[in-house]
Amino acid sequence: MSIAEIFETMEYGPAPESASPAVAWLEERVRTFGHFIAGEWRDPRGGEWFETSNPADNRPLARLAQGSVEDVDDAVRAAREALPAWQALDGHARARYLYAIARHIQRHSRLFAVLETVDNGKPIRESRDIDIPLVARHFYHHAGWAQLMDAEFPGATGVGVVGQIIPWNFPLLMLAWKVAPALAMGNTVVLKPAEFTSLTALLFAEVCRDAGLPPGVLNVVTGDGRTGAALVAHDDVDKIAFTGSTDVGRIIRVATAGTGKKLSLELGGKSPFLVFDDADLDSVVEGVVDAIWFNQGQVCCAGSRILAQEGIAEKLTARLRERMETLRVGNPLDKSVDIGAIVAPVQLDRIRELVEQGRQEGASLWQPSWSCPTEGCFFPPTLFTDVQPSSTVAQVEIFGPVVVLMTFRTPAEAVELANNTPYGLASSVWTENINLALDVAPRIKAGTVWINSTNLFDAAAGFGGYRESGFGREGGREGLWEYIKPRWEVAGKGNGARREVVKTKPSRGEKARNGGPSLPPIDRTAKLYIGGKQARPDSGYSMPVYGPGDRLVGDVGLGNRKDVRNAVEAAHKARGWGAGTAHNRAQVLYYMAENLGARADEFARRIAALTGDEAGAEREVEASIRRLYTYAAWADKYDGLVHATPLRNVTIAMNEPVGVIGVACPDAFPLLGFISTVMPAVATGNSVVAIPSERWPLAATDFYQVLDTSDLPGGVVNIVTGKRDELSETLASHDDVEAMWYFGTAEGSAMVERLSAGNMKRTWVGYGRDRDWLDAEQGEGREFLRQATQVKNVWVPYGE
Ligand code: NAI
Repeated sequence: MSIAEIFETMEYGPAPESASPAVAWLEERVRTFGHFIAGEWRDPRGGEWFETSNPADNRPLARLAQGSVEDVDDAVRAAREALPAWQALDGHARARYLYAIARHIQRHSRLFAVLETVDNGKPIRESRDIDIPLVARHFYHHAGWAQLMDAEFPGATGVGVVGQIIPWNFPLLMLAWKVAPALAMGNTVVLKPAEFTSLTALLFAEVCRDAGLPPGVLNVVTGDGRTGAALVAHDDVDKIAFTGSTDVGRIIRVATAGTGKKLSLELGGKSPFLVFDDADLDSVVEGVVDAIWFNQGQVCCAGSRILAQEGIAEKLTARLRERMETLRVGNPLDKSVDIGAIVAPVQLDRIRELVEQGRQEGASLWQPSWSCPTEGCFFPPTLFTDVQPSSTVAQVEIFGPVVVLMTFRTPAEAVELANNTPYGLASSVWTENINLALDVAPRIKAGTVWINSTNLFDAAAGFGGYRESGFGREGGREGLWEYIKPRWEVAGKGNGARREVVKTKPSRGEKARNGGPSLPPIDRTAKLYIGGKQARPDSGYSMPVYGPGDRLVGDVGLGNRKDVRNAVEAAHKARGWGAGTAHNRAQVLYYMAENLGARADEFARRIAALTGDEAGAEREVEASIRRLYTYAAWADKYDGLVHATPLRNVTIAMNEPVGVIGVACPDAFPLLGFISTVMPAVATGNSVVAIPSERWPLAATDFYQVLDTSDLPGGVVNIVTGKRDELSETLASHDDVEAMWYFGTAEGSAMVERLSAGNMKRTWVGYGRDRDWLDAEQGEGREFLRQATQVKNVWVPYGE
């Protein structure tokens, strides 16, 4: 027998990591854990306990406390009490705590890795070499952000008490992604781990105590979805950060609607894995292994849809099958095991059901010839071919070691198939042609694109979804925005901005002056503006617009659902705007400013006629011109970043337009409110359906003459006048609107947030609070640009 043959036939011997550190740790604590609240362990107030077990052998590991409403309340109170002192610390002091936590994690890394593996079922190779090192890296990285907070985020403060709910697939890593930035930015935390995998969070609580973290800064309440729901519902929580299924994400979106709680959601995915025919197939095969068999495929960004170019599909399938034969499924503590146990019997059942459904729907299933262990929760690596893009296995997140393979012919078809999913978390693109890769990357609707690589993560790069994969980022500079807010929001609420409206009836003389000669006669009804054209409202009705003293100033069209839908369609057709150059967008905005400047007096008279505030009207027009200049300036300066990730990678964080944004403009400033909200979206390449001030819509409708003469392509800005809340309702529930901004009442804000859950559109609402629109800090700038964009991280590896 030759050496090569010996290598081929050699059996692997077992190479188990000892479970003893985890067993000793559990035994020392009598395998019983309460909640960690205000720096101490507390039994559940409701007296309810539950068991957590090892999915590799289904044996119980420990008894955990089921968090009740009262337990959650205790934890939130502890976090609230700890907040002022924690927030008052300077960034350097917080940096020291985070650094100390990172050191402690490294010191206990073996225990953490073994505990994670016995609790979750993931191979020790992964918990030891990927999860735990990344956890430490997150705390080191964010120690740095704590240090730099004042310098890099001037005018910002922590959000407050943060409720964090995490899933079971990366128990400690998801904790780190959430806790590190929260603590760095001066928030206090109540964390609820997943019920299947709470142990490393409890060990982490001990580590925080040992690192001297003040009591109450981090609290851990264990339990199932009921505990999570209690945390979401708690009145004194300022923000919820959630990772988990899209279904629960939707429930949380609805539950928090209108409460003013900040929300970030990292939800499911069905990430495409594109293989072009010039790709290096050896790398591709290893890429697939990492994409879908890493962590048993229980990865939100798992590359679960292979899209292979027709010419290489057959060869790739054959190579994959060959590789699948060599994968090893078994005891997760064994260092030579590739695929460990599925987290729990319920998840195993779900995988089996979905696989069975795939078979019944006609897809061809392939599994390796060897058999899986039958004790414990194991499932073999599985490949489906002959899959219809609309079939269940191609659309539903299976969250198991199951991948589907479909084919495409051209890059355009690849992009179309890649985007044929409601999700948008991640994607991989495999080609040796960098031009093709960088052309395709921006066209895929996903928060991360890995070129010739997959499942790469780092604390310096943001991670998060487009579309139904959620919103908000974790990691990198972009992740920190989730945990801070502007100080002015805490201090002043911007109420100085509310315009005092003259209520008295004007005299005859005033009437003449207000309705001055250059204004259109009263009987003219301003139409809607859709697709670059004036459009009659579908209803055929109009709505009167009154100035001070209930004097009729004019009429506007009364828009309805149909008009909104037409406007959304027009906005979609205008999406080329975002693909054009930023220089061009800047030019158009400057041109608008110029054209508005040329008609400044006319606009000022119109605003004065509406509001009765002559001096204010002039100020408003002047501020509007300035604001147009601001966004013309920003258009080609709101750059992305290149993140310094520790791999041989250029990690490009691009600011991409969100898409079609619905905007319900503020009432009190008929022109400035419209410009301030619509133009940041336009500057960053979005198209907009705007509902102008309901009370005084005429300045915005006058503005379409400026739009017409400023080279703005039709459909980029659409204006539908009418009842703000009625129109907002249609926009917020429209599945082809990607974001909705609403600057109206508290009730309207709640309605918008609630309805947005349909397609998980991003929302930005004022909760009925006013801003000082004349003030540059509150009325313009990066906050607006950030809301108008989403960050895509493109990982481009280098080196031969
Ligand atoms: P899940 O979304 O129910 O659980 C995630 C976390 O949310 C857990 O801590 C859970 O206790 C908590 N939770 C459950 N209901 C809640 C509620 N009403 N309010 C607040 N918190 C609540 O996920 P589950 O049931 O464990 O897994 C089901 C499916 O979800 C999986 O098969 C997979 O497809 C998907 N999933 C996706 C994840 C991701 O990272 N994208 C992570 C976990 C699951």
